[in-house]
Amino acid sequence: MRHLVVVLLSLPLLLAASQEFTYAGFRNAGGGGNNPNLTFNGVTELRPDGILRLTNETSRLIGHAFYPSPLRLLAGGGGRNGMAVSFSTEFAFAVVPEYPKLGGHGLAFVVAPDPRLPGALPSQYLGLLSAADVGNATNHVLAVEFDTVQDFEFGDINDNHVGVDLNSLVSNASASAAPVNLKSGDTIVAWIDYDGGAKLLNVSIVAATAAASSASKPASPLISFHVDLSPIFLDQMFVGFSASTGLLASSHYLMGWSFKLGGGAAPPLDVSSLPSLPRPAAGKNRTSLILAAAFSAFVALVVLAGASAYAAYRYKNRDVVEPWELDYGPHRYNYSELRRATRGFRDRELLGSGGFGKVYRGVLPGKPPRTVVAVKRVSHESRQGLREFVAEIASIGRLRHRNLVQLQGWCRRRGDLLLVYDYMPNGSLDKHLFDDGLMAARLTWDVRLKILRNVASALLYLHEEWEHVVLHRDVKASNVLLDGDMSGRLGDFGLAKLYEHGANPSTTRVVGTLGYLAPELTRTGKATTAADVFAFGALVLEVVAGRRPIEPRAAAEELVLAEWAWERYAAGEVEKVVDARLRGVFDVAEASAAVKVALWCSQPAPAMRPTMREVARYLDAGDAAEVPEPPPPPPPPPVCSGEVGYCDFVHSYPSSSYERAAAAADGVTQTSVATFPYSPLSMRSSHVSV
Ligand SMILES: *[C@@H]1O[C@H](CO)[C@@H](O)[C@H](O)[C@H]1NC(C)=O
Ligand SMILES: *[C@@H]1O[C@H](CO)[C@@H](O)[C@H](O)[C@H]1NC(C)=O
Ligand SMILES: *[C@@H]1O[C@H](CO)[C@@H](O)[C@H](O)[C@H]1NC(C)=O
Ligand SMILES: *[C@@H]1O[C@H](CO)[C@@H](O)[C@H](O)[C@H]1NC(C)=O
Ligand SMILES: *[C@@H]1O[C@H](CO)[C@@H](O)[C@H](O)[C@H]1NC(C)=O
Repeated sequence: MRHLVVVLLSLPLLLAASQEFTYAGFRNAGGGGNNPNLTFNGVTELRPDGILRLTNETSRLIGHAFYPSPLRLLAGGGGRNGMAVSFSTEFAFAVVPEYPKLGGHGLAFVVAPDPRLPGALPSQYLGLLSAADVGNATNHVLAVEFDTVQDFEFGDINDNHVGVDLNSLVSNASASAAPVNLKSGDTIVAWIDYDGGAKLLNVSIVAATAAASSASKPASPLISFHVDLSPIFLDQMFVGFSASTGLLASSHYLMGWSFKLGGGAAPPLDVSSLPSLPRPAAGKNRTSLILAAAFSAFVALVVLAGASAYAAYRYKNRDVVEPWELDYGPHRYNYSELRRATRGFRDRELLGSGGFGKVYRGVLPGKPPRTVVAVKRVSHESRQGLREFVAEIASIGRLRHRNLVQLQGWCRRRGDLLLVYDYMPNGSLDKHLFDDGLMAARLTWDVRLKILRNVASALLYLHEEWEHVVLHRDVKASNVLLDGDMSGRLGDFGLAKLYEHGANPSTTRVVGTLGYLAPELTRTGKATTAADVFAFGALVLEVVAGRRPIEPRAAAEELVLAEWAWERYAAGEVEKVVDARLRGVFDVAEASAAVKVALWCSQPAPAMRPTMREVARYLDAGDAAEVPEPPPPPPPPPVCSGEVGYCDFVHSYPSSSYERAAAAADGVTQTSVATFPYSPLSMRSSHVSV
């Protein structure tokens, strides 16, 4: 009897020496049916199709799924002398963000002593650790993160990266996931292999769509990191997954998982036999699915036809200028001329890169003094609508205002569109505001106010003074360039619309930048002058306060700059909003006028916001007494709960008055005065783009 007990007790230990399991989907406890059900924690749920959903698209969620029994990850007696043993794992996952391009926050493969990960926080903590224990060696946590948000606090390299984290969220090794796009919604297969002898941890990923049916592991790993995991592991560790959402949210799914302990590769997953996510995502009814399928088939045909026609066209004659292009006259540059000017688009000539493409410095050939230009290279895959682009560019080219970065011309070749702009020697405003103290010192209060006035007058020109209403759609500090006199010039106008033409027609692309996005934009997707005004308000606060519109590193109450500014304003402490780096050297009347104007622009209801004409007038007057009192702050967003208090900014204003305002703004000529009788600023409905 005693012996039997001993044998029974040691059996798991013997088994643990080389242990493996495969979950091909998670229904009925996995492929073989012999696997135990995983242990869930947080909002993880098993869908009827066998896919695990760790989080949905609600803010600030955590989901965990762990193998229910602990594994012996230390060999040789355990304790201090234990050696981490080899293991290998393969899994298939997908991240489907709430808004395309804006993922939140990511998923991690985790090895931890407690499958509940007690105290863990959502958002940037990925449901792994908390602010109190990040970096503490007593955590004994290994995580391989697949992160879709760039968190500056933890030194993330970008918003699409893989990282190896030891007891911390500051990655000890990380690499960009590109060309794989983690938040594409596609199934992604990942391999993590640890060789206990060589003390080498490898991570590889591949998008399952790129491989035919079963994904094959890339020849060389994405990350190959020399690390001894012995001090990280305890005798008994749990393996599993964690995912979290924050300000913005994604659904994190797991389709299959295999694991092997004790050397050798984990059993390969047959990706084609794993359950796959229905696309478009669940929630749509059958009809719309069928419609979507038919539509995608149609689009595919059109694209195919277009592509082959284009290929044939390119084959016939590369340098052809179509007759209609001649109508747009002298702006057209020669490709080889621009290539020479930028020295073959060399990285050394790179001035910056943004949402629309990379910008190079170029020196045009000719007699000295040679003209220096900025050449923006916009990638554009489809030929559809090319004529519209050129028309659009030609019309942008005719815009002239001293506070706009002048478009001098363009050139197109294959999928590339090259836009030639005036060169701005002082670079972009955000560089000055945030990059280093020396540059920030040049931004005295007078310079800041001048720049804001410049940008306001440029926007006023776009909205009201040109022959058509031109929407900017991406007003932000990095799109404000500074010329030789440190005057502000607005760049990139009109490009957002261009970008939209190229967008996949089956997805709504919200163009803009988080923090500058008017709340109604994420709902209606329809750009308006009022949305530009909202973004301008965010810019004003950013320039006055020297802080980004959304500061992930800030304390909860300072997260959203506009909300924080509201509070300071309501408390009668407008001066506290002003950048401390100015050391109090600023004109109080001008600064409070700017803050008040910004608070008006930040109104959640579009119809409440002033026009650019009013904004420009108040900024020019620079007298706080002239600006009407901004209405009281909107009610606090209901999602603002929990320790860190992150709130989903995009959903910050779900109040019914906002709904009404959005409805009012949708009707072009409808007057909004009835809805907002108390606004002292004159009302006008939003213009719709031309
Ligand atoms: C796993 O869970 C399902 C239902 O959730 C249950 O029917 C099944 O018995 C469980 N299997 C094991 C091995 O516990
Ligand atoms: C997400 O899950 C939580 C908890 O299960 C639930 O309360 C919430 O309604 C879900 N949200 C969505 C958008 O499905
Ligand atoms: C690390 O965590 C342990 C146990 O929770 C705690 O006693 C210790 O103070 C922490 N160390 C640091 C540097 O925070
Ligand atoms: C991992 O990084 C942390 C700091 O981020 C450092 O303290 C630790 O020593 C690193 N560990 C290894 C094994 O490189
Ligand atoms: C890890 O990758 C290296 C190549 O960088 C390879 O030589 C090694 O065999 C790999 N180890 C494992 C355990 O996959």
